[in-house]
Amino acid sequence: MIKRQSIKKLLDFIDDSPTPWHAVATIEAALIAAQFIRLDETVKWSLQAGGRYYVIRDDSSIILFVLGQKSLADSGFKIVGAHTDSPGLRIRPNGAQVSNGFAQLGVEIYGGPILATFTDRDLSLAGRVSYSDEQGYIAHKRIRFGQSVLRIPNLAIHMNRSVNDEGLKLHKQTELLPLFAQLTEEQLPNPYFMQLLAQATNLDTDQMLSWDLAVYDTQKGTFWGAANEFYANSQIDNLASCHAGLQALLDEQVLNQSQGTLACAFFDHEEVGSESHIGAAGSFLSDCLQRITLALNLDREDSARALAHSFLISADMAHAYHPNFPAAYDVNHKVFVNRGPVIKSNANRRYSSESISIAQFIRWCQDADVPYQHYSHRNDLACGSTIGPLASAKLGIRSIDIGCPMWAMHSIRESAGVYDHEYLIKVLKQFFLSV
Ligand code: CO
Repeated sequence: MIKRQSIKKLLDFIDDSPTPWHAVATIEAALIAAQFIRLDETVKWSLQAGGRYYVIRDDSSIILFVLGQKSLADSGFKIVGAHTDSPGLRIRPNGAQVSNGFAQLGVEIYGGPILATFTDRDLSLAGRVSYSDEQGYIAHKRIRFGQSVLRIPNLAIHMNRSVNDEGLKLHKQTELLPLFAQLTEEQLPNPYFMQLLAQATNLDTDQMLSWDLAVYDTQKGTFWGAANEFYANSQIDNLASCHAGLQALLDEQVLNQSQGTLACAFFDHEEVGSESHIGAAGSFLSDCLQRITLALNLDREDSARALAHSFLISADMAHAYHPNFPAAYDVNHKVFVNRGPVIKSNANRRYSSESISIAQFIRWCQDADVPYQHYSHRNDLACGSTIGPLASAKLGIRSIDIGCPMWAMHSIRESAGVYDHEYLIKVLKQFFLSV
């Protein structure tokens, strides 16, 4: 039985989270509702057994954890990892320019989006703005334009006759600029753009110092298919996995019955390699785990024992079989939407899975009555990667890479199967409840 309500929650979660900064705010709201306490990295931590806590680093990476009653040295951390960012377009610092009266925004490509999918969509802007507050301190706030203010219109087929034979190719520097206004001769693009930002943030233009702004799609998530067996939205990679991890950890049974120390780590910057102070290749997770062991007065040996007992599930989306493109898959590793979470293997360590972590995950699937599938990428195509190999290498803990199958990864409009999300939440709950 599909619990449509839970998929509806996922769609709302994504719609509330147009950027990584908004995704972390959406997650934080759920944590506050569940009585989690925010920890500040600049303040000494004092932690209680059974306590629920979270840490945010730079607004777009978040680690949440629940301390178990069991000895940490004897049971370790059970961690679900995922990423908060998605590929797309980011606005340059000197964003606005004008061409024949049309104001456009200069953009940089963030990660590896399918650029053609950004054309002819109801795009808008969201992110965060830093400014001087009344006392002269630097403050920042999130910003989101609700209505569609941007668009990248296609060139008509009459001027691009080969588009259907050669595909839509956009020059990355000159043909990707979103249009946002039609200006008079007196209006200058940058002041006009600053004025828009000022209105949207209730700030004066001279207060604003800097920003991080992303292009997002205003179209809301939807179900599709004759029996509503599929869903579509932007950023399914990888907000769906963040949502599944969060739902599993906040589950009543998990919170009430789990004896172990449970965590979710959701990182920004995965799509650009994770090399940052908030990314999975940075120190954020290891810093937090170390601070937990220090706050619990574990000595160095017991801290090492805790890590040796730990397990990381790196949850990220997988490539579902597309019936129009059968040649894109290894013939024995087609994975299908709505047939359960995918275990990802790669001999070259693009995924962190190995036979023992796979065996363990299969047991959790069996115990939770959840089907599973195996994925392995073709040799003649470059395989993507995840936070799994980076985070497990950094911490020295066992890990597996898994995730729900989806179509059109890195399109601005991705899609997946509704059953898989339920299955993933179920098996992650099993992991958190396991002894
Ligand atoms: Co991903």
